[in-house]
Amino acid sequence: MSSFRVELRRVVDDSYDIEIGADLAEKLVRDLKDGLAGKASRFAVVTDDTVKELYAGRILSLLRENGFRAELISFPPGEKSKTRQTKEKVEDAMLEMGFRRDCCVIAVGGGVVTDLAGFVAGTFGRGVPFINYATTLLAAADASVGGKTAVDTPLATNLIGLFNQPEKVYLDTAAWKTLPKEQVSSGLAETIKHAVMADRDFFDFLERRMEAIFALEEEACRHVAETNCRIKYRVVMQDERESGLREILNLGHTVGRAVETVSGYRLLHGQAVAVGLTAEALLASRLGYCTAAEAERVRSLLRRAGLPDRLPAYIDREALVRKLYTDKKVRAGQLRFVFQKGIGDMMCFGENVYSRPVEEALVREILPEM
Ligand SMILES: NC(=O)c1ccc[n+]([C@@H]2O[C@H](COP(=O)([O-])OP(=O)(O)OC[C@H]3O[C@@H](n4cnc5c(N)ncnc54)[C@H](O)[C@@H]3O)[C@@H](O)[C@H]2O)c1
Repeated sequence: MSSFRVELRRVVDDSYDIEIGADLAEKLVRDLKDGLAGKASRFAVVTDDTVKELYAGRILSLLRENGFRAELISFPPGEKSKTRQTKEKVEDAMLEMGFRRDCCVIAVGGGVVTDLAGFVAGTFGRGVPFINYATTLLAAADASVGGKTAVDTPLATNLIGLFNQPEKVYLDTAAWKTLPKEQVSSGLAETIKHAVMADRDFFDFLERRMEAIFALEEEACRHVAETNCRIKYRVVMQDERESGLREILNLGHTVGRAVETVSGYRLLHGQAVAVGLTAEALLASRLGYCTAAEAERVRSLLRRAGLPDRLPAYIDREALVRKLYTDKKVRAGQLRFVFQKGIGDMMCFGENVYSRPVEEALVREILPEM
């Protein structure tokens, strides 16, 4: 018998820029001319059918007009497309179009597109570069930054995926103008989560400026996009692979993801997160981590953002409790939650420990208030 050790130590610089502004398609093309995608010689613009008509088609034309070899691949919009099957279809389309390792994926769209296209890029030809061009508030607030890519499975959302960092992220705040109002609200759920989790001043700003945000006033939108990035980055830079601190980004998502799946995706991601934030604020106040008044402040801001703060009647409560056990934080069969500490901070339960076990009975106790 013999053995030898394969010495492989990685030094990786995954740093990248986030550009925030109105209408950034031409900036993207200029950056590509300046070498943003390195040696990539072909570009796969991955998008959904709605965003294709609104933005991705124009980006494709701009790329071609500027001499880039680019093709567009799109799929039906919505969470239902965020599957392994869609990933396979995108990959097969890319292979048929002749894409090989010397390509770059440009994801143009909301979180479904950036999550799926980032995952495609991570495994296509064992990994090709990708760029996110985010067109929803939710993608700007959360999905397109941070390097998590994934697809859903019938069991639960985001179970299969990769940590994969983009070459650059563009947050086009002008694109929010064509978003249906409920999609603006959906993005605000992650925004409110960030404020509750890490920034009391931002929470006050959201309370003061909610109307300006809905009116899509440029300065308010830019502040929302920038502050979301700053908060998420403070967390992600300290814990890229979710070994500790990054768990706090789960606020509202333990219940939220379960609600989203049990609703059969009738609720948008942000709407489900809003229900989750409410449930988890109620749990936090039961456990003494915030006051009842603070929990109500969260709930009231969610309502003002046009978000639900109750479980829809069609949600089967038993199925919901069962679904909580598919959460990735579950350990030894016990539910675990992260908790807000007042408003603007998170509970820490030990060195690098941000979640704690919670009895199912306590979760059942707050259901009537939901
Ligand atoms: N990777 C992460 O860290 C992370 C974080 C949060 C959420 N997510 C994921 O993000 C997804 C939700 O994001 P989303 O709400 O952006 O989803 P989405 O991509 O489905 O976009 C929402 C809808 O808006 C449409 N749309 C997109 N841009 C538009 C525009 N500018 N104008 C008009 N319509 C437009 C889309 O076609 C779609 O119908 C979920 O799958 C969630 O799991 C990922």
